[in-house]
Amino acid sequence: MKTIYFTASSLDGYIADKNDSLLWLFKNGPTDISFIDEFVATIGSIAMGASTYQWLLDNLNDQPWPYKVPCFVFTHRQFKTIEGADVRFVQGDVVERHEELKKLAGDKNVWLMGGGDLVGQFHDHGLVDEMHIQTVAVFLNDGKKLFNRRTETAFKIKEIRQRGDTCVEVIYNVRG
Ligand SMILES: NC(=O)c1ccc[n+]([C@@H]2O[C@H](COP(=O)([O-])OP(=O)(O)OC[C@H]3O[C@@H](n4cnc5c(N)ncnc54)[C@H](OP(=O)(O)O)[C@@H]3O)[C@@H](O)[C@H]2O)c1
Repeated sequence: MKTIYFTASSLDGYIADKNDSLLWLFKNGPTDISFIDEFVATIGSIAMGASTYQWLLDNLNDQPWPYKVPCFVFTHRQFKTIEGADVRFVQGDVVERHEELKKLAGDKNVWLMGGGDLVGQFHDHGLVDEMHIQTVAVFLNDGKKLFNRRTETAFKIKEIRQRGDTCVEVIYNVRG
């Protein structure tokens, strides 16, 4: 059971543009995204920040909530809930929440969906096991950061997978 940051990024390390748009990703990312479903099948719980949840709310377009597992949304805002979605609004220290996320996940993995500061909070406490970063070969020059921390020791590469002709996924061992 692992805690994994799984996300797509631009070459210059942004997961969304400054307006929280992902159009650059949908326009340029891999067309075969079955690897996402394969990853989601290994997941038992999810953590995301308020802006990521807002993006999902804005882009569901009458589709049902896509995840069957419990999802913690870290926020101080008042959000609407979605019918049929196990979404729990939480805040504050990530350590206690991580224990809950692990219990909920059982023998499956915890998905840290982002953004980069929330994942940084988990990393500050040594709680991130792996990062699976799909880097799409575009530069955004501005936007929401992939990882909002400075690190001094390089993460070790565990695996590299090509995703179409514009994207490479690198799996990093974060805990060493
Ligand atoms: N490329 C991809 O695959 C991918 C993946 C995931 C997300 N995204 C996109 O990337 C963007 C991420 O936005 P973002 O960087 O602003 O990050 P975010 O983590 O989604 O949202 C940040 C907000 O979460 C809340 N928050 C964070 N930590 C908290 C804590 N410990 N307790 C309570 N609230 C906390 C705060 O909001 P409040 O205090 O205001 O509630 C904070 O401003 C979104 O547009 C999302 O759609 C892209």
